[in-house]
Amino acid sequence: MSTTVSAERHNVVIVGAGLAGFHLASALAKQGYPGDVTLVGEEPWQPYDRPPLSKQFQLDGDESHIWLAPELGPAVRLLRQCHAQAIDLARQELRLDNGSTLPWDRLVLATGSRARRLPQWGASPRVLTLRTLDDARRIRDALQSVASLLVIGGGPIGLELAASAAALGRQSTVVELAPRLMSRSAPAAMADVLLEHHRSQGMAIHLGRTVVALDEGNAEAVLDDGQRVPAGLVVVGIGVQANDALAAQAGIACDDGVFVDGWCRTTAPGVFAVGDVTRQRNPVTGRFERIETWSNAQAQAQALAAIWCNPAAARPYDAVPWFWSDQGSARLQCAGAITGEQQAWRVDAAGGRVLVHWSGGQVTGVATLNAARDFVQLKKLIVPRPTITPEQFRAPTANIRALVQQALAA
Ligand code: FAD
Ligand code: APR
Repeated sequence: MSTTVSAERHNVVIVGAGLAGFHLASALAKQGYPGDVTLVGEEPWQPYDRPPLSKQFQLDGDESHIWLAPELGPAVRLLRQCHAQAIDLARQELRLDNGSTLPWDRLVLATGSRARRLPQWGASPRVLTLRTLDDARRIRDALQSVASLLVIGGGPIGLELAASAAALGRQSTVVELAPRLMSRSAPAAMADVLLEHHRSQGMAIHLGRTVVALDEGNAEAVLDDGQRVPAGLVVVGIGVQANDALAAQAGIACDDGVFVDGWCRTTAPGVFAVGDVTRQRNPVTGRFERIETWSNAQAQAQALAAIWCNPAAARPYDAVPWFWSDQGSARLQCAGAITGEQQAWRVDAAGGRVLVHWSGGQVTGVATLNAARDFVQLKKLIVPRPTITPEQFRAPTANIRALVQQALAA
């Protein structure tokens, strides 16, 4: 137990037992937080990890790797299948759908995000979305009995799932509205490499297109240019929106995401937010953004626990955003900004690709494909921004690790 915890007792209620809620509760428990911690989750399960749901879980159905809860410990009270309905700021109470209320001194919104849907096909059992364990089980079951998967949306969810279905021997098609893949989260040049990779693996990808009709009898979909594509099962992966209704109803500032500062504070005293539901200042772009990544949910939650447990050493959370996306045999990793006025490539001996962006002479973004070691090194340059030049990076004899260490030491 840490000896630096504040003596002040606070009754903490965390809404949302996903990754961020779990990590906050678990870090508070580990650091001996001197207060009651209640984790309120609407799902029937103990907390679990979502990334495997579009990847390994689709291949083997093995649920044993997804559970997070064994680390939670007895210091945290977990309420499952409890939907938080309303926040009463004046009384400092949270109302649950079972009619009870929970008093709080500190309330944390960790309600995450939900999959966007296409309402015109919402009722069809052949058109699914992927966010929860239930969704993943439904998709896995459905994939057993169809010959083809159509994914609407060429972001990480769509591409991961399409690659998993292809590995299961299903005919995989992705229809993406934008003229390129991964437009929200990966640099354009890296998206081109991914496109080539997936096509070479047999995935059909239609860019600049969307689905206008489903012909369920023939297990086909019709695109906006009249093409028909196989669609035994359709999964919509067109992005997520923040679960910020609780905050909005309480008058807390939000705009598809709850605004927080570096201390995870919302605009209401005593109310905090962490994870996908937040809209926070991205230290690389300087803009308030929603950072929809596993690493943010984990690190922001742990940062808040550190702020509360060791206030003397506390510093605001300002981690460089990064994520990974495993799409079949392609491991994409991106950090920082996805654009910059200068860019340079390297291809390593094993065929791994490394793309670096500079803005004003500073490294602002790194994207790699199957080059995890270089990713880990180059990511360190983004903040606090020591510099390497494009010429140093491109030099055929350059050792990335040595180059980064040299820059950091300078
Ligand atoms: P969530 O995980 O969404 O958890 C929020 C929880 O709050 C949910 O359980 C929800 O039911 C609950 N909740 C909401 N409202 C209420 C309420 N009113 N009352 C009670 N409970 C409530 N990120 C990566 O970086 N790399 C990846 O490879 C990757 N793969 C992914 C694959 C899939 C299939 C999915 C869905 C996501 C993936 N992500 C990945 C994203 C990552 O999982 C999320 O960024 C992370 O889960 C966010 O954690 P969170 O706790 O903020 O939100
Ligand atoms: N038809 C086809 N494509 C569409 C349509 C449409 N009607 N509407 C949107 N799209 C495309 C967008 O252009 C975008 O490329 O869907 C893609 C969605 O990509 P993301 O926003 O990255 O969302 P998604 O892949 O669903 O991922 C959602 O899961 O892995 C996590 O961190 C990730 O938080 C993210 C979440």
